[in-house]
Amino acid sequence: MTIVIFGGGGDLARRKLLPALYNLHVDGVLPPRIAIVGVGRKPMSDDDYRAFAKAGVEKFSRRPIEAHAWEAFAAALFFVAAEVDGEQALAPLGARLDIVEHERGLNGDRIYYLAIPPTLFAPTVQQLARSRFVPPPEGRIARVIVEKPIGRDLQSARVINDAIAEVFQEPQVYRIDHYLGKETVQNILVMRFANSIFEPLFNQKYVDHVQITVAEEEGVGTRAGYYEQAGALRDMVQNHILQLLAMVAMEPPHSLDADVIRDERLEVLKSLRPIEGEAVDANVVRAQYGPGFILGKAAPGYTEESGVAPASTTETYVALRVCIDNWRWAGVPFFLRTGKRLPKRASEISVHLKEVPPILFNADRSARLDPTILSIRIQPDEGFSLGINSKVPGPHVQIYPVKMDFHYGSTFGGSSPEAYERLLLDVIAGDATLFMRRDAVEAAWQWVMPILDRWAERGRDGLAAYPAGEWGPSEGEALIESTGRRWMAP
Ligand SMILES: NC(=O)c1ccc[n+]([C@@H]2O[C@H](COP(=O)([O-])OP(=O)(O)OC[C@H]3O[C@@H](n4cnc5c(N)ncnc54)[C@H](OP(=O)(O)O)[C@@H]3O)[C@@H](O)[C@H]2O)c1
Repeated sequence: MTIVIFGGGGDLARRKLLPALYNLHVDGVLPPRIAIVGVGRKPMSDDDYRAFAKAGVEKFSRRPIEAHAWEAFAAALFFVAAEVDGEQALAPLGARLDIVEHERGLNGDRIYYLAIPPTLFAPTVQQLARSRFVPPPEGRIARVIVEKPIGRDLQSARVINDAIAEVFQEPQVYRIDHYLGKETVQNILVMRFANSIFEPLFNQKYVDHVQITVAEEEGVGTRAGYYEQAGALRDMVQNHILQLLAMVAMEPPHSLDADVIRDERLEVLKSLRPIEGEAVDANVVRAQYGPGFILGKAAPGYTEESGVAPASTTETYVALRVCIDNWRWAGVPFFLRTGKRLPKRASEISVHLKEVPPILFNADRSARLDPTILSIRIQPDEGFSLGINSKVPGPHVQIYPVKMDFHYGSTFGGSSPEAYERLLLDVIAGDATLFMRRDAVEAAWQWVMPILDRWAERGRDGLAAYPAGEWGPSEGEALIESTGRRWMAP
């Protein structure tokens, strides 16, 4: 297999892709013969590229460099300078790939990774076709991995998807949503469908509501150029959070076949009740962080960050009340929230079961029992816990909420593979289960569009503020508290 990384000298390659490939090599799960070819405009020798990769692996790899393993891995790394949007752009790359593949005894099965700015996704696949890099599907393997973001609205997503579809057939396309590569996210299906205790409860009869929180402690950092065009709804909700919601809410698939699972995830997206017009104001809160404190240290407000327009209306926080109009979830609200500069980095899903009847132990109106809560911790401290009520030892009946807790770290030891390790391995194996199909990407955009349209109409109107280091604006609290519920602190 040859893996061609367009943008092989970029940040994603350095921090994620090359370390992931190195860990797969250490695990001995890469194909025995492989070449990894980075592509970028800035010329680099193969040795320079190996040094670049080594620095990335040293800094970001899950496991440290081991000299022997590194030597074999480095020998498979190459770099070619090429400009994907220039005339005859890929001719030098084609010639070099032929030589490398010949030398390493490879048959030309290739994966093309688009780790380049999204504006180059379409031109690059067009170049791949023009330069005859994509054989007919029945011939050698040619797969393409597409990074996020796929567009910034429904129309631009369709343009990218159309351009890809002209060159690759859908089964050859692997759209990354790295949340789907996380162990705990894959474990949602195992938890639901490999145990008899949870699934019977996952429906409107027993679930009061579901919360999904994806909190980031960091601010916009050096990514203002991208974030100013995106904002929290596009950056987190349209893709990652809706995929988490789909995993929690989907029907049991009839098999583990990639398209069967992806059909079920799509079904959830299609069942989301549209939020349009004034309903956006009532069900969606958007906000921007102002100056505040993170761990006692002063942090600037969003509009004071470098690269951010002083009058920016980009939201750094969004909270939504969402309904799924299907038989299973009718009447069960899903509360979703994400934000930057929140008190800590934590992604968590919590399923809040209905209260027991207000008799026996729950009879005292002034001291109601905590409901049973299943919390799925996606990061950090991956695992899940079940919050239940228990009797405090002693002569009196006193009830105390306790936790049954499962931690990946302490149960399985070591560190879980990074999402990109699993995802790259799946592409090599041709398993698309954890990737976004075109219809799902577009269904998610379709649902998000009326919210974006309403915000565009209202401009700054309705944009709330919160101090950096706090759990969002009071409007975000009111969104859930107005229904008699509260956000659960992750
Ligand atoms: N970094 C992340 O953590 C992250 C997370 C999620 C998604 N992504 C996505 O991953 C992709 C890459 O992001 P990144 O952060 O790695 O960006 P980056 O650091 O700016 O790297 C982009 C790479 O593309 C190459 N490139 C740019 N224009 C080119 C052209 N015309 N021809 C050939 N190569 C070209 C650049 O190399 P030269 O400058 O040498 O040409 C560079 O290696 C983007 O789509 C981004 O949205 C990144």
